[in-house]
Amino acid sequence: MPQATYNFPAGFLWGSATAAHQVEGGNANNNWSAWEAQPGRILNGDRSNLACDWWSGRWSEDFDRAAETHQNAHRMSIEWSRIQPRPDRWDEDALDHYREMIRGMLARGLTPMITLHHFTDPLWFSELGGWEQENAPELFEKFAAHVVEALKEYVTLWVTINEPNVYVVSGYMGTDFPPGKSDAQAAFAVMRNLIRGHAAVYKTIKRIQKNSAIGIALNYRSLKPASAASPIDRALAKFAHNSFNESFLRTLKTGQLRFSTQRAGIPEAIGTQDFVGVNYYTRDLVQFSPLAFRDFFMKRFFPKDAALSQSGFIANVPEGMFESLKWANAFGLPIYITENGVEDAADDLRPRYLIEHLHQVWRAINFNYPIKGYFHWSLVDNFEWERGWSQRFGLWGLDVVTQARIRRPSVDLFAEICKQNAISSDLVQRYAPESFNLLFPVN
Ligand code: BGC
Repeated sequence: MPQATYNFPAGFLWGSATAAHQVEGGNANNNWSAWEAQPGRILNGDRSNLACDWWSGRWSEDFDRAAETHQNAHRMSIEWSRIQPRPDRWDEDALDHYREMIRGMLARGLTPMITLHHFTDPLWFSELGGWEQENAPELFEKFAAHVVEALKEYVTLWVTINEPNVYVVSGYMGTDFPPGKSDAQAAFAVMRNLIRGHAAVYKTIKRIQKNSAIGIALNYRSLKPASAASPIDRALAKFAHNSFNESFLRTLKTGQLRFSTQRAGIPEAIGTQDFVGVNYYTRDLVQFSPLAFRDFFMKRFFPKDAALSQSGFIANVPEGMFESLKWANAFGLPIYITENGVEDAADDLRPRYLIEHLHQVWRAINFNYPIKGYFHWSLVDNFEWERGWSQRFGLWGLDVVTQARIRRPSVDLFAEICKQNAISSDLVQRYAPESFNLLFPVN
């Protein structure tokens, strides 16, 4: 049996990622709490409730878990509605709380990457019109300035906005996220304002902290034609890729937002990105279907030979990870994988998914793509938005009733990778023998 090791570069960041609303619990002042309270919005009527109980202090034991299992970084987000519960009120205790958490990370050797917007908005902001309103960027910038002033001593790695593409598609083109509008005009206005908000915050952070590195965490979905021979499938896959994957980050290069048939100039966005953050989970095949008139005549489905996650939400397509990194590399900036993971309570697929995706990361590094770190989604099972508690993305499982953490085998797998800064044939043999031939072929 072949023996070999895939080594990662020195100084590589190995961590996991979380988001405030999904782990903190007791967030009363944001639009998601209100959304969860509406009947029929969340699968099984689930509520985030205590979530992982981080706000009462359980972050500390979870950061212990991360550090003890050799992670050296953590990505988390700051909840805007805690810092600014009302337009005229800044909650300094909440800021102290975040300061304590981030100091807690540093004390454990975890480099913080801080996200300023991860899907949730303060209720007051939503009631004013959310990201549709023209002055949304200024309001976001005020919040960000406050946070960055308070945390600049501890943090240099910032994500302004998590997955603006998912935020728009799920909340303004579909109805999974608040405000649940299907309105193309509103969707475009929100896209434009999110980019304006990002650009304003980028400039503010740079003014406060010269040595900062700032990016967006973009959800990259691999979108391929179902039939490579079909010009219409190819055209639709390209259209979907351009709209979903390209539009936001391209605007940071060109200053021109293009989305379907709509256009807007945002010149102030040019050059407002120091790294590319990639959230990669899966691939869809795109096929022309006359019946799918609501979805631009596009039917999407997973490749037939790909293993599916527990609820069929994610297909294991590791080549899509390489594809996303190749795409990110074209921006000529450092790259972080800001999220990647799979829902799998039984931990059946996760070991294989993790190893095969990290193998693709290694391949991309060997093409000299400047990849600086990998954040697994997620550290502990957490509240999965409209899917509630039905999906389990954690390395650690969570018993929502008792708050007990469950150590899945992937905890130890990831710990060994982080510790060795490498994937060895021995490790693959022990944790995911089914991936062995793929990673270490004999011929
Ligand atoms: C989001 C996370 C989410 C994860 C898994 C990403 O789109 O950034 O908040 O939990 O996917 O669904």
